[in-house]
Amino acid sequence: MADRTFYLTTPIYYVNSRPHLGHAGATIMADAMCRYRRLRGDRVYFLTGTDEHGDKMAQAAAAAGVTPQAHADTYAATFRETWQRLGITNDDFIRTTEPRHKAVVQAILQKLHEAGEIYFGEYGGWYCYGCERFYTEKEIVDGKCPDHQTPLVFIKEKNYFFKMSKYQDWLIKHLEDHPGFIQPERYRNEVLGFLREPLQDLSISRPKARLQWGIPLPFDDQYVTYVWFDALINYISALGYPDGALYKELWPHAEHLIGKDILKPHGVYWPTMLKAAGIPLYQRLNVHGFWTLGGGKMSKSIGNVVEAFQLTDKYGHDAFRYFLLREMNFGLDASFSEEAFVGRLNADLANDLGNFVSRATTMIVNFGGGRIPAPGAAGEPELALRGALERAVADVDAAMEDFAFQRGLAAIWELLGFANRYVDATAPWTLAKDLAKRERLDTVLWTLGESLRCLGILLDPFVPEAAAKIRDGIGSGAPRLQDIAWGGLAAGLSVQKVAGLFPRIDVKVSEDPKPGAAAGGAGKIPMADFAKVELRVAEVLAAERVPKSKKLLKLTVKVGEETRTLVAGVAEQYEPEALVGRKVVIVANLEPATLMGVESNGMVLAASHEGTVSLLTLDKDVPSGSKVN
Ligand code: MSP
Repeated sequence: MADRTFYLTTPIYYVNSRPHLGHAGATIMADAMCRYRRLRGDRVYFLTGTDEHGDKMAQAAAAAGVTPQAHADTYAATFRETWQRLGITNDDFIRTTEPRHKAVVQAILQKLHEAGEIYFGEYGGWYCYGCERFYTEKEIVDGKCPDHQTPLVFIKEKNYFFKMSKYQDWLIKHLEDHPGFIQPERYRNEVLGFLREPLQDLSISRPKARLQWGIPLPFDDQYVTYVWFDALINYISALGYPDGALYKELWPHAEHLIGKDILKPHGVYWPTMLKAAGIPLYQRLNVHGFWTLGGGKMSKSIGNVVEAFQLTDKYGHDAFRYFLLREMNFGLDASFSEEAFVGRLNADLANDLGNFVSRATTMIVNFGGGRIPAPGAAGEPELALRGALERAVADVDAAMEDFAFQRGLAAIWELLGFANRYVDATAPWTLAKDLAKRERLDTVLWTLGESLRCLGILLDPFVPEAAAKIRDGIGSGAPRLQDIAWGGLAAGLSVQKVAGLFPRIDVKVSEDPKPGAAAGGAGKIPMADFAKVELRVAEVLAAERVPKSKKLLKLTVKVGEETRTLVAGVAEQYEPEALVGRKVVIVANLEPATLMGVESNGMVLAASHEGTVSLLTLDKDVPSGSKVN
């Protein structure tokens, strides 16, 4: 596992806008990936930065009434500080106005010019100022830029061109020979699609008369470089190309992470530029989709991606990271809304994760005296939980190979579901009442501690602050994936309660519901809300009255493989004995609640009418654990 080298870059961000949701999403994905690879013991180098030349930046500076450099300084600082605040672990931050970058751009231009790869020619074409590139007739939609939907400008001028066309066949062959060069596959196909049309030469300069704010061509000071020829080179200038030790060490392991809108420059221009300059290609291009802003009542105030990004301060960095990583299927677009964000925060973080951590640490403190006990022999439930952990570890590793953060997190949440059910099934609070069950209790408490220890490692790349709190709570040190092997938890470690890892957010009902919502009938919920309720068939194994209560029965039920306790308010209607052996329907994923001193893990469904209570039963026999919907 060790000794693998990984160099990952984000795009360098234009300094004509403040950091927003789209930038944050990409940088967070890159950060999670780098943290994961470090956790695995790999040598990792993570680069981000800012793209500061070009018309757009010059225009933004003019609008602000400052020089382009002063404007770039301000924005570059904002990006840098934003990433620090979010806990982004980049190793370097490159700015295209830095001398170290400009020198490399000029050296490569000079080299290509001398090699005859760059020539002077005339070109007329439809140009988009937003994209800083010409569009071919085929790409133009209704006379407009397909990206910006703004009118294109016809520009005819003498410029320098890179002989990109001559690399068309070579690039097609490279893509065919290296199926993993661009992923997900749809983007590889998209690039192969571009390459079915004749590839044009690439205009790489702008006359100074039109654009001042760029790097001068070393062989003609009346011209500056075209933005992509400048920007793409950051990936090697930051490493000290051609002689720097970092360049030599890292470039053979380079991977880029980009959004789908900049696929062509990265999938076509960059490889051909590298080829022409005699530089080995990067290893892999990883392409993500776009965040779109979903509607929704809570988020009606969110008009743009900058505001959406501000929610990271409102709800916490870990929660924001989690949502972005969990909600985007890598390569596809995803929709962001405050409601969906808060929904996941409550369900996945406050409930599944927060509750498990709080229950597990509380039980070790209350029933184990705050120390990890030495375990007795592992039984079936422990082996099953260990199996679930091992599956999650393998699934996360496979998912991360594909940048499939969503899949990786789903695997960890499966494990969490398992761990929560383990607590219900083993019921340490019951074991604690019986001295004869001390060894069993110790085994359960140790197993909870071990689950926490492993979660403190496995969650680290995704929710680093929460993972650190879990590790602190059980006194485990710096996380390493190799330590995750089950059994690593030493007895005797002292444990503290970790509560409130992710406080629940009270969702306020919108005060002025949209007219459409009212017409639809108050209280209607989307299908997705119902899908959160897990209804299952349970078989009653035992039933007894809850002492001192007229209404409550304590039921021990079997739900599939699992046994759990729940409390039902049917004692006035049903004799306990009459229920044993019956199959009922329960809500299986309710937070535990304590009623008259008995912890209830679920709710039995019953209809009631004027004092008559009628349990929901089944009109055909199906096994316990069956889903009800
Ligand atoms: N400066 C160029 C990149 C040069 S890389 C050598 C650039 N900058 S950008 O600031 O406009 O965009 C940077 C990245 O942000 C791109 O990968 C783009 O896909 C991403 N995003 C911008 N808006 C986005 C969303 N709404 N959603 C997801 N990512 C988006 O392009």
